[in-house]
Amino acid sequence: MDTDKEEFLKEFGADYGYPNGPKTIDEIRATEFKRLDGLVYLDHAGATLYSELQMEAVFKDLATSVYGNPHSQSDYSSTTCDIMREARQQVLDYFNASPKDYKCIFTSGATAALKLVGEAFPWSRQSSFMYTMENHNSVLGIREYALGQGAAAFAIDIEETVHHVVSKSTVVPVRVYQHQIQRRSEARFLEKEPIGDTYNLFAFPSECNFSGLRFSLDLVKIIKEDSERILEGSSICNGRWMVLIDAAKGCATKLLDLSEHPADFVVVSFYKLFGYPTGLGALIARNDAAKLLKKAYFSGGTVAASIADIDFVKRREGVEELFEDGTTSFLSIASIRHGFKILNSLTISSISGHTSSLTMYVRKTLLALRHDNGATVCTVYGSDSLKVSCHDWGPIVSFNLRRPDGSWFGYREVEKLASLSGIQLRTGCFCNPGACAKYLGLSHSDLLSNVEAGHVCWDDYDVVNGKPTGAVRVSFGYMSTYEDAKKFIDFVRGSFVSLPNQIGCGYHFRERSIPFPDKGSGSRLLAGSFYLNSIMIYPIKSCAGFSTANWPLSNTGLRYDREWILKSLTGEILTQKKVPEMCLIGTLIDLHRGILFVESPRCKERLQINLESESYNGSGEEICIRGQRYEGQGYNNEVNSWFSRAVGQPCCLLRCSMSTSYYLNKSRSVGMCRDGQSRLNFSNEAQFLLISEESVSDLNNRISSNAKNGSFGVPVEVSPMRFRPNLVISGGNPYAEDGWRNLKIGDNYFTSLGGCNRCQMINLVNEAGQVKKSNEPLATLASYRRVKGQILFGLLLRYEIGDGVEQEPESLLQVGQKIHPNSF
Ligand SMILES: Cc1ncc(COP(=O)(O)O)c(C=O)c1O
Repeated sequence: MDTDKEEFLKEFGADYGYPNGPKTIDEIRATEFKRLDGLVYLDHAGATLYSELQMEAVFKDLATSVYGNPHSQSDYSSTTCDIMREARQQVLDYFNASPKDYKCIFTSGATAALKLVGEAFPWSRQSSFMYTMENHNSVLGIREYALGQGAAAFAIDIEETVHHVVSKSTVVPVRVYQHQIQRRSEARFLEKEPIGDTYNLFAFPSECNFSGLRFSLDLVKIIKEDSERILEGSSICNGRWMVLIDAAKGCATKLLDLSEHPADFVVVSFYKLFGYPTGLGALIARNDAAKLLKKAYFSGGTVAASIADIDFVKRREGVEELFEDGTTSFLSIASIRHGFKILNSLTISSISGHTSSLTMYVRKTLLALRHDNGATVCTVYGSDSLKVSCHDWGPIVSFNLRRPDGSWFGYREVEKLASLSGIQLRTGCFCNPGACAKYLGLSHSDLLSNVEAGHVCWDDYDVVNGKPTGAVRVSFGYMSTYEDAKKFIDFVRGSFVSLPNQIGCGYHFRERSIPFPDKGSGSRLLAGSFYLNSIMIYPIKSCAGFSTANWPLSNTGLRYDREWILKSLTGEILTQKKVPEMCLIGTLIDLHRGILFVESPRCKERLQINLESESYNGSGEEICIRGQRYEGQGYNNEVNSWFSRAVGQPCCLLRCSMSTSYYLNKSRSVGMCRDGQSRLNFSNEAQFLLISEESVSDLNNRISSNAKNGSFGVPVEVSPMRFRPNLVISGGNPYAEDGWRNLKIGDNYFTSLGGCNRCQMINLVNEAGQVKKSNEPLATLASYRRVKGQILFGLLLRYEIGDGVEQEPESLLQVGQKIHPNSF
């Protein structure tokens, strides 16, 4: 055992690894999670993993039982009803909820359970919906129902003041800070306001899925019993308070005991507890609270009788029957017992201790990281907010990383590099906008200007105006190990921390190169001279290209380069990212005959497309891709069905006839390195990509030395063609092209647009007709070619056609031509 692990066990050994459980953590991983094999999965807050033994048990159960529709009367229907009854009981037991007080209503997930409460809650104009700032969007969405029916809605922050002792006579131990009250003037008021009592709803998560902060469950009693004092007699908060706990994240690793904390509603999703099944959750509702819910819709399953042609319906009586529309997901319900069996055998308190030990270790280690200049590397969110009313922290660590100069690494960069190191984590705001704004210190105007800059959930705008728009989150599950946590820490240290005199600390761009072997071509080259070695044309975006000894230039770059695209029937542009097999489609253009030839291993005959386009279908259409608007020409059915066979899905071929840039506003182009000035066909970023053979040799040397010293995987020899270049050059030193502002080839002038930001696409390789994926060369490039969040390799160029010249027909590029860098 290494000394680091010994240290860890000294501190956390009492909690880590289920020392008193039926199996140790190492046995669990070796026998039930064999498939992980080197993968570090750290997104358990997103979805935890199912055990292989659990799935074997599910399979055996389904393969040997017959479960009928629970609404039928057959024997097999009653088998299903029995198993569902047992499943409901197991859910209630898990929350220590007596069936006398609570019911378990199955839903399609936590979100569906939240929607059900929002939809059926007895809102009135006197009601309020109050929620903690830290809440998932699926909880915030309840606001729409409240506001829509005239109720008020507001967020609160909760601060702890004294101990968690709650009784009517003691001082209330929390202080509540109320955010602005929201109301809708155009609210659709209920025709019949509920008469009598006013009902208010308070919602909070048992654990914040952004920071891991666990809210005190005492809030249930505090709000139900002391709301007047807590809210200081706020006039809008009269009436009875009901409390909803979003336990979707929290209940996988911490007990929520409803006998002690009698919330009215609790929501869960089972894949968050034990990985399988997805599409199944539950609303655990107190009987008296459930009775107040008013459900409009009726359906098969929830109706006792209805008459088709008059307004008559009699609903079923039981709480579950009233709320479970249609046929429940009964086979999934039958399988949850196999998941509960694992949690119950390990025990929730041991799971809590085990996952906490990993969280504390990671949190502490990240906080202690320093750059060589003493600057802090990591800001962990929630580490200083101990004033908030919480018991402790769930197994989540959310953070952002800084460079030695204090600027932020974008979270997308962290995610991309983590993935190259075999680490799966989550980035963004995790569907929790309130927590994100609070922890990142984003004001309303920051949030609105981020949206204006084009930032939406799921995108790549990770730093806007110098501030992160989200964070990186690692989270642990019952099967996580010390080795997972250690590999993650080593990754952060190796990729983001600068150490004294260390080369390769990853936060800056290293131009130093490794000597590369002489390939014998040196004799032709004069020292420091550069020559054009290959020209490549890719007529159809994402398909294979062809090389040629010479080729004419046009005002879009190399003539016909990326002039065609394939589009799916749903309007999606097909690329190798989504359809890797596209690299197996070969292309060739015969300029003299004016024909584009296309071939595919899936099509017997070679397709010929006349460049003068007699096969157009006559319909033009407008296409928008990454801020560029194109006019495209469609082709006839024969051409489209050939391509549909070649890519294995229905699609059509389009040819670019015109393109214009149309950035909506300047800031929209933040983070895009696309050439916005010149005319482009369907190429992503610029008219040309130039790759240097010397830089590729240097890269290959690094890949093989990394493989030899075991830093990365198996050595691979990467060809310049892996980067889909248009121009391959030789001569000079590796990376000499980094310093070029412009270049001249023959009589043609080109301006450098900077380095090309590489992605996972360069890790795809076509080997004997099979598309294979590895970590290389991106993993090695990431270790020494990172600049401001980008991994640069190759140079993007624009053809300078000369003022007022639309096209120079004689301009040709020719292999063998000399290249003159920085010549104008
Ligand atoms: C705290 C929290 N609440 C609610 C949800 C929504 O759960 P689901 O998508 O399973 O419905 C999630 C999902 O990530 C969550 O983390």
